[in-house]
Amino acid sequence: MPKVDSISAEKILNSRGDWTIKVNVVSDKGNQESFSVPEGKSRGSMEARIINPDKAIDLINKKIAKEFRGFDFTDQSRVDARLIELDGTKNKSNLGSNTILGVSFALARLAAKEEGVPFWKYISKLSKAKVSDKKPQIFANMINGGVHADNNLDIQEFLLLTKNSTFRKSVEKIVKVFQQIKLDLENTTSIAVGDEGGFAVSFRTDGAAIKYLHSFAKKNNLGVGIDAAANNLNWINLRSKMFYKRIHNKFGVSYIEDPFRENEARHFSKLVSKFGKSLSVSGDDLTVTSSSLIEEAHQMSAINAVIIKPNQIGTLTEALEAVKLARKYEYQIIASHRSGETNDTSIVDFAVGIAADGIKIGAPNRGERVAKYNRLLEIEGELKGRR
Ligand code: PGA
Ligand code: ZN
Repeated sequence: MPKVDSISAEKILNSRGDWTIKVNVVSDKGNQESFSVPEGKSRGSMEARIINPDKAIDLINKKIAKEFRGFDFTDQSRVDARLIELDGTKNKSNLGSNTILGVSFALARLAAKEEGVPFWKYISKLSKAKVSDKKPQIFANMINGGVHADNNLDIQEFLLLTKNSTFRKSVEKIVKVFQQIKLDLENTTSIAVGDEGGFAVSFRTDGAAIKYLHSFAKKNNLGVGIDAAANNLNWINLRSKMFYKRIHNKFGVSYIEDPFRENEARHFSKLVSKFGKSLSVSGDDLTVTSSSLIEEAHQMSAINAVIIKPNQIGTLTEALEAVKLARKYEYQIIASHRSGETNDTSIVDFAVGIAADGIKIGAPNRGERVAKYNRLLEIEGELKGRR
């Protein structure tokens, strides 16, 4: 059995210029891997707790390295159980979710390397998913608003959704439309971008931004969606409800994430019962990749789609448990990056490996987002090589 030889951590910058951690691991056979931890800005209150990167690095270099020396890292559930035990809290506030996720994913990547398989393949074995070059579809954040941009838009993300295409065709289409929008905007306004690489321009209203995106979607056979990130939205619920009805009926918006605040599940339920399968009502801050919160949302029929972000819960094993539950309830599953990213592309392998229906990787712009698009293309090649 391969064993951990060493674990160490270092401080690196993320896409916002904030400090985060990179965890480096080495096996007793001399194989090396690493993982860099992303960080959200519009977080749910029930997400596992992040700790200061300096403290995280200290914990990894002094405590965790010692605990894991000689540990068989090819059993991911044992690795993660040990991390959870060492932390000893419900919300991972002792070691920090960034510390724990860093070690969990770095060791998973090392296990894949030890087996000689790409990371998505290793994930697919753990999640028992049937991978395909059409899963996930891309949920591309073309216009950024809310806390991710300095414009006048309240809604956080205005998304274009690819439909049933291979990774390459999806990427090509999103890139083509991104360039079309850029050309169009250049004529009238500045083309500043937000945290996730989408345009951060102002529109007359949020509805006008959706109408604008819809015109490009129609021409290119793409879907339209939004992440309202309603924890940060100060609209009254009546206004939101009327707005969602209007954009669904008028502009074919088929995906709405966090339409209401995380403590307003009953309003989510009303949307689900009103629109049924024609609208994906997705939980992000509501469910934070936690099996128990997904279960609660299910009890209330509050969602029919769910965001999976491994760093919301802290370990790969728990993220896979959330996926399993979401699958059982036949939810649409969307794996997601965070607004504060590095060039790490593990989230793409994760999405392919669980055969997620969708993946949020921002717009094809800014190095840390482009890295994810490129990884998707690379994986399509790896999939073909294995047919
Ligand atoms: P965050 O936002 O990464 O800034 O938390 C992403 C989202 O709300 O989906
Ligand atoms: Zn969200």
